[in-house]
Amino acid sequence: MSSRVLTAVAWPYANGPRHIGHVSGFGVPSDVFSRYRRMAGDAVLMVSGTDEHGTPVQVQADAEGLTPRELADKYNRVIVDDLQGLGLGYDLFTRTTTSNHYEVVQQLFLALHRNGYVFTRTAMGAISPSTGRTLPDRYVEGTCPICGYDGARGDQCDNCGNQLDPADLINPRSKINGEVPVFVETEHFFLDLPAFANSLGSWLSTRTDWRPNVLKFATNLVDDLKPRAITRDLDWGVPLPLDGWRDQPMKRLYVWFDAVIGYLSASVEWARRGPDPDAWKQWWTDPDARGYYFMGKDNIVFHSVIWPALLLGQNGAGDKGGTPGAFGTLNLPDEIVSSEFLTMSGSKFSTSRGTVIYVTDFLKEFGPDALRYFISVAGPENQDTDFTWDEFVRRTNFELANEWGNLVNRSISMAHRGVGSVPKPTAPTEADAALLATSQAAFDTVGGLLARSKFKQAISEAMRVVTAANRYLSDQEPWKRKDDPDRRDTILHTALQVVQDANTLLTPFLPHSAQKVHEALGSGGVWAAQPEIREVDDLGSPGIPRGPAYPVLMGDYAGEQARWASTPVEVGRPLVKPTPIFPKLDPELGETGPDWAPIAR
Ligand code: MF3
Ligand code: ZN
Repeated sequence: MSSRVLTAVAWPYANGPRHIGHVSGFGVPSDVFSRYRRMAGDAVLMVSGTDEHGTPVQVQADAEGLTPRELADKYNRVIVDDLQGLGLGYDLFTRTTTSNHYEVVQQLFLALHRNGYVFTRTAMGAISPSTGRTLPDRYVEGTCPICGYDGARGDQCDNCGNQLDPADLINPRSKINGEVPVFVETEHFFLDLPAFANSLGSWLSTRTDWRPNVLKFATNLVDDLKPRAITRDLDWGVPLPLDGWRDQPMKRLYVWFDAVIGYLSASVEWARRGPDPDAWKQWWTDPDARGYYFMGKDNIVFHSVIWPALLLGQNGAGDKGGTPGAFGTLNLPDEIVSSEFLTMSGSKFSTSRGTVIYVTDFLKEFGPDALRYFISVAGPENQDTDFTWDEFVRRTNFELANEWGNLVNRSISMAHRGVGSVPKPTAPTEADAALLATSQAAFDTVGGLLARSKFKQAISEAMRVVTAANRYLSDQEPWKRKDDPDRRDTILHTALQVVQDANTLLTPFLPHSAQKVHEALGSGGVWAAQPEIREVDDLGSPGIPRGPAYPVLMGDYAGEQARWASTPVEVGRPLVKPTPIFPKLDPELGETGPDWAPIAR
């Protein structure tokens, strides 16, 4: 039965190019999942965009001497290029600086306001004594009151991960010039999280299929909810849609408040760009639709607690009740798929530490599928994982090239040389039947694992079929059957059928090479569809300034041929001599790294 699946992918900050750690958290897993779901016949809506507000963008803009808008424009393009190059099949990859996004965020805020889930309170804000201007939270630095780390920022401690208020810091100082800030009263909006204690708690108690660590983490948070500021003293963000607030130049909604609402606004934007502007509702207000959220582990709190609370408040379904806002009754997340961190030589990939491997460089040298394969088979799915060039070379050479590439290459070459087309099978033997049964059975096994986002196990099961087929060829030795062409043809037909099956099983992971294998098997048309970059105009929303034209990722995924099933190879289909699909890497690379990311010694 086909179902509607919302794939909600964490929004990368537009404050720099993305490194391979980023895309191993949110990017590749969400795409593998969505591609599988589409192949299995589900109606997938996969949305995301660049996260462009708040201090992350502001700080980097200052560092590069650009305005936040210029910086966001710059990195939005870079990120769109990278994600397209990786083949991430978004239905819409947009950005948070569109008028559509502003409108959706403001409507959601108004619903929370009307239902009584936000309130104002004065808090202490930092001012620079020398300029008299507000110091954004991130520019205040000091000692963390929780863990004692001395580089904590006013918004968060990177050491213990706790959210902070600048006024909590011990020995606060300005990051800009070192002076001690003065704290003055400033009014902020707060999300009344305690007013969701029961509703969130009972919703969480129904999430029995979540990964235990995520469920435990969220449940602990819900046991101790405090109101949380959702505005910041900052001029870069979504203004508050209330008189007395909307024109204040230094008061904006907090970046995390607007970013999570992006899942909804991007769905709305996708629908507005298609034939039916209400189409988003099929994924958001139909209780049968399912929402899967993909992210790195540092994002769990926002997706398992904050976003559900915003949705409950909008729906009028928090502990204080209320009525649904402009969007009707919205679905809460069904699954939180979080990954751990990809590290390099023990340190978290971090731009500040200099040990980064950028997606752009990686794609230029190795292409998308080698990276997709590595992340799927050896990525940080369940634990922090160290990326090493050595392992990348080994996986690429011994698994992708020697196992999969070689199976494709020798099966098609032999059939091409001996017959010129897909050979006709005659009396199949037990060995033939056993191999075919293995690859047939894998559709259920691998599909079941993919549906539960168990990517490592899924790709290992798919590769087991490849290994079995290679063993079969070595055992059956079709190259020695010159005087028994019927038997030779049956073996080669069986091998090609399993190449076809394995290619289908590997399509979610390796969509680019899957297209090539499809063609090498003599077929035409689009097997695995790829996202395209389209330049679009801001759609416009009443009373909100229109943004500039921008690049989005979209794609015609309905037109692809790939289906999650074994499809028979067509006897007599002409074959041409194949070219190797996965070039081998120089083993040296494992010892030195490429010159743009050399191994430190
Ligand atoms: N930009 C955030 C990060 O990179 C993720 C935002 S996810 C969203 O950590 F839910 F807010 F969209
Ligand atoms: Zn701390």
